[in-house]
This record gives sequence, C-alpha cells and structure tokens, in this order.
Amino acid sequence: MSEDNNRDSLIAAAKRAMDNSYSPYSKFRVGAALRFADGTVVTGTNIENASYGLTLCAETVAVAKAMDDGHRGGLEEVAVIGDTDGPVTPCGRCRQVLNEMAELGETDPIVWCAGDGEVVQTRLSDLLPRAFGPASLG
Ligand code: THU
Repeated sequence: MSEDNNRDSLIAAAKRAMDNSYSPYSKFRVGAALRFADGTVVTGTNIENASYGLTLCAETVAVAKAMDDGHRGGLEEVAVIGDTDGPVTPCGRCRQVLNEMAELGETDPIVWCAGDGEVVQTRLSDLLPRAFGPASLG
C-alpha cells in the first residue's frame, strides 16, 4: 500500500468512528484512528457527559481501547478528524495519553490532523516535545 493510501485509509477509519460520537453538548464530533506496527487499526470517538468535565476525547478512547486489546507500543500512525473546515489537532491531555503508548514501543508516530479540507502532517514529538513518560520515572 502506498503512503498516500495508508494515510487516506487511516483518516477514513477516523471519519467512520465519528459516526458514533456522543457529543450532544458541544455538537463537535471527533474521530481518531491508531495504526500499529502489526497493521491493526483501533478507532475511537469523543464521549461527552452531562457532567461536562468528564468528557473523553476521541484519541483517549482509542488509546484505552487499544490498551484493552493488549497493545503496548508499536504505535506508528495516528489520524484525528473533526467536523470542521480546518484540521483538528489533539488536545494537550490526548498528546500525553498518546505518548504513553508511543513510548512503550519507542516510536514517534506520525499524526495526521484532518478536517473537511486540509490535512496537516505532524509528529507526536513535535506536538509534545520533551514529553514526560514511562522512561521519566526511571
Ligand atoms: N475533543 C476530542 O475528542 N479530541 C481532541 O483532541 C479535542 C477535543 C472533543 C472533546 C469534546 O467532546 C469536543 O471535542 C469539544 O471540545
């Protein structure tokens, strides 16, 4: 599969995940997809709560699902997409949550940030430089 196909299929998976978004309060749907070294793709969407602060972001849900499936590292690529014209970048908390999975396998995943139009390519290390992670605990 070409790199473009890889990118497009991951963004498409993130977009499908948005269909299950539970976001009655913000009405802002977000989807995330994680690709692992073994080819597995794990998706997540945002889940809000009547107690607003308890909201779970799409990326965090995806990482939790992947952890529950047994993944511990091997995170190579991430796609995030929102209901916006411009690209959605992961919030600070999600960067930290993604870093936990990345650091476990010593990868620095590409992060595709997408919206209705433009797609921006970043790296987790650019989004979260000098991260605090498992290795920081010694
Ligand atoms: N949201 C995500 O799912 N991921 C992010 O990285 C940014 C924000 C969600 C949380 C909330 O349900 C909605 O977007 C508006 O903040």
